[in-house]
Amino acid sequence: MKRPLIAGNWKMNLNRTQAITLAASVAQEAVHWPTVHVALCPPAVYLDVVGQVLRNSPVALGGQNAHWETAGAYTGELSPSMLVDVGCVFVILGHSERRQYFGETDEVVNRKVKAALEAGLRPIVCLGETLQQREADQTQQVIRTQFEGSLADLSLDEIRQVVLAYEPVWAIGTGKVATPQQAEEVHALLRQLLQQRYNEATARAVIIQYGGSVKPENAAELLSQPNVDGALVGGASLKAQDFMRIVAAAHAAVEDA
Ligand code: 13P
Repeated sequence: MKRPLIAGNWKMNLNRTQAITLAASVAQEAVHWPTVHVALCPPAVYLDVVGQVLRNSPVALGGQNAHWETAGAYTGELSPSMLVDVGCVFVILGHSERRQYFGETDEVVNRKVKAALEAGLRPIVCLGETLQQREADQTQQVIRTQFEGSLADLSLDEIRQVVLAYEPVWAIGTGKVATPQQAEEVHALLRQLLQQRYNEATARAVIIQYGGSVKPENAAELLSQPNVDGALVGGASLKAQDFMRIVAAAHAAVEDA
């Protein structure tokens, strides 16, 4: 098994003091799990200070969004190079909440992915079906369309920098986690799409995370699936103890593989 990536997406939560405290706890604990790549994605306004807390720790910093332009008259936006400037390695792009509430399309996500790669960031690109789409048996088609659109025109070198996150919309923040079989099925499809467009070695190398109500109680089973290479964690990343139990589960999955 490759080194799993466990990333905490704090979304629009915590205040400055809480962000610093949580980052410090994770940084302190993460040294015990060198087999696992750990990342934290705080709200943009705390990136700088959390980046300072994480400096000299094994924990990477990530943004939750970025614009596709490098600079200019885009009030309220952040460019990929600004994220790099404060120490980001990753940036979450195309999260379903961005797609749902802020109208981001696959085309927009694709522009952002290219800009992030250009700036030297590793995009964590989110894909996933709604409950309605799953019930209408459209999951595979939705994933294919999002894959083709959000990841259009990426070179082999570029796709190797990309992390995919399968996040079924119905499982986000609902406590309704996908079964390990449901997750594995979509992860295997993504692996197959990567193989068809690139090659087998590349398909194998790309990290595919699962996200959607990942908790300490269900992490081990999800992470033991052959095509699940990590987790993108929302709610459970807001408590150091819960988040580190998920990191520990990823470590155990590496040991068992
Ligand atoms: P929850 O873990 O809170 O369901 O959120 C998942 C998510 O959206 C991570 O990006």
